[in-house]
Amino acid sequence: MAVSAFAFALGVGASALATGALADSLTITPAPARAVVAEGTFKLSAATRIVVTKGDVEARGVALQLADLIRRSRGFRPAVIEGGPAVGSIVLTREGPAGEAYKLDIGPGGVTIAAAQRAGLFYGAMSLWQLATPDVAKGPVAVPAAAIEDAPRFAWRGLMVDSARHVQSLDTLKAVIDAMAAHKLNTFHWHLVDDQGWRLEIKKYPKLTEVAGWRHDPGAAARYPKYGGFYTQDQARELVAYAAARNITIVPEIETPGHALAPIVAYPALGTAAPDASKMGDWGVFPWLYNTDDATFAFLDDVLSEVMDIFPSPFIHVGGDEAVKDQWKASPKIQAKIKELGLKDEHELQSWFIQRVGQSLAKRGRRLIGWDEILEGGLAPNATVMSWRGIDGAIAAAKAGHDTVLSPHPTLYLDNRQSLSPDEPTGRGRVISLKDVYAFDPAPAQLSVDERKHILGVQANVWTEHMQTDARMQRMAFPRAIALAERAWTPEADVSWDDFARRLPAQMARLKVLGVTPNTVPFEPDPRMAEGEGGQITLALTAPLGVGEVRYTTDGKVPTAASPAYAGPLALAAGTTVKARSFVDGQALGREKTVTIDPVALQTRTSGQLKRCTSHVPLLMIDDAPAAFDKRAMFDVDIFNPCWIWEGVDLSKGARITARIGQIPFNFQVGKDRDGIKLNPPATPGGELEVRLGCAGERVAAIPLGDSAKNPALSTVSGRLPARAGKVDLCLSFTNKSLDPFWVLDRVTVKPAP
Ligand code: ACM
Repeated sequence: MAVSAFAFALGVGASALATGALADSLTITPAPARAVVAEGTFKLSAATRIVVTKGDVEARGVALQLADLIRRSRGFRPAVIEGGPAVGSIVLTREGPAGEAYKLDIGPGGVTIAAAQRAGLFYGAMSLWQLATPDVAKGPVAVPAAAIEDAPRFAWRGLMVDSARHVQSLDTLKAVIDAMAAHKLNTFHWHLVDDQGWRLEIKKYPKLTEVAGWRHDPGAAARYPKYGGFYTQDQARELVAYAAARNITIVPEIETPGHALAPIVAYPALGTAAPDASKMGDWGVFPWLYNTDDATFAFLDDVLSEVMDIFPSPFIHVGGDEAVKDQWKASPKIQAKIKELGLKDEHELQSWFIQRVGQSLAKRGRRLIGWDEILEGGLAPNATVMSWRGIDGAIAAAKAGHDTVLSPHPTLYLDNRQSLSPDEPTGRGRVISLKDVYAFDPAPAQLSVDERKHILGVQANVWTEHMQTDARMQRMAFPRAIALAERAWTPEADVSWDDFARRLPAQMARLKVLGVTPNTVPFEPDPRMAEGEGGQITLALTAPLGVGEVRYTTDGKVPTAASPAYAGPLALAAGTTVKARSFVDGQALGREKTVTIDPVALQTRTSGQLKRCTSHVPLLMIDDAPAAFDKRAMFDVDIFNPCWIWEGVDLSKGARITARIGQIPFNFQVGKDRDGIKLNPPATPGGELEVRLGCAGERVAAIPLGDSAKNPALSTVSGRLPARAGKVDLCLSFTNKSLDPFWVLDRVTVKPAP
């Protein structure tokens, strides 16, 4: 559909037009509020100039950023000039809407980006850059003519990165900020402090980084150099400036009163109980809380003062989550404080604590934001609630007249895996797909229209317990953060998963240009072989997300958009090589997968290809050895019950079972839940791998693990399985003297053996 570029002026229902028109040629993500495609294209080439008004320093800055991005994606850099002819140029003008809103008019004769403020100019430039970057090709590009009027749905469009559990390089964080900015996310919540490490230099308290910035990871990893690092104040300032230039505010988080083991290790006087530095390599909910001495508040005041010197953000995040009160309950000093203050309980003390911390912020004119536990025991005046335990915290906050940000587990927790494919990186075992994030409703029906006015916006969180490398962190963040960006920006009426999915090939190409590594696994065929009729093998090639179509070849050639489309499991002869890839509108999405049909491969399953017996706390975990994170094995395990099922195994002839196994530390602070984990006592000193026919059925093997425990990485054990009639479900588990360490399965092979 091609209509006049000036349809707005004619009063055409632009948002109704947008869907159909956008489907033709515009690939801007997040989808703009109003867009109409027009006839023709604008030819962007090395000869194109970006024109700003003389003396408009901000516009010139944006123009230089646009020119630089065009250089990165197309390989040429348009010149930026002050004053000059509009014809054939990209003109930045201030005669446009306020705030983050902008107008972008693209015609064959020129481009205009109009916005009153720098933020709007920047976002107009980002939209234009996206249209000029439909792929990874270099050289001149034809930008589709269009008239766009755009403005955000929410003011807070956030991404949290946890630099406490694992530390990322400054360059990685800059790439994340680039990718956020290109998609109009404007809030980078920086989780700088947690039990596992303190990551920000504080000049008055050097031990916070010298001591609390480093930890020994548990198990075999304890022999390796300490893990850690921190950001100097200069580096943090550099990132703040880098983000600000891209319309992103960095909201720093200094956790209180819990998740405080690291600072208490550095300065034990801050704590309620003596710290145990060896626990800094654990995950979970820790008991160490700050105490309520005046000296502790003086410390926090000093810390926050340095934090506010670095971060100009109007909001400062003070944590507040998961502060289990066991240590406060056990401390006579804390109990005396509760009495002295006339408070009811530890929850009211936490409320008092947060309000006192809030005074440090208020005296510098800053606003306090905290996780939704800050509601318990009474909310500090003017506090903003970040709702993570679902959206109940947001509802309670809004009903009480407080502002809130929606950031609910599990949908916006990007430490959850993205598909069931065994190729996913480490993370939590629950699947939160790109589509699940896209489907998140940022305006819950439980809130009245008035209450919804308190929703500042939405935020996704990248908790990095299981993201040991920068690449893993990026793969968990992207492309899901882009789905959130669209829900945070695009009007509800224009939200369309199908349209978003259509734009994904362009989107993924842009992320590459921006220097982040997105996860492509959910787009890729997940080859699954099974036994078919008459000795043949069937191969399923479904891609987990079901975006576009899978195309394949069986002649060894590279699959293209013209190769046969996969429509259901293929029956194939042994030795056949299948190559498969996903395509959307003829454009490849994700990597090509190659699989050779091999009856022997059917005899092996990785832990991720088996069924977990239970899923209390399913994790995709890494081994504790060898030293390099990328070299370590990955296990799919319910840490509360390490047990796997292989369904439908033919034991009619008996079999030889071979298992590759690992032993990993139970480094989880799970409180009393630990007592509920069942141990199955071993019969031999090294323990056994037990095999049952169904988890409650006959035990058909107990294979001694021997000296496996002495091997820091993977060991292999094997044994015999007796003949049994029909297909059986093998249930695989281990005996264990103790919970820590515990055994896990890496892969298992079952070969018929009379
Ligand atoms: C949180 O996930 N503890 C905020």
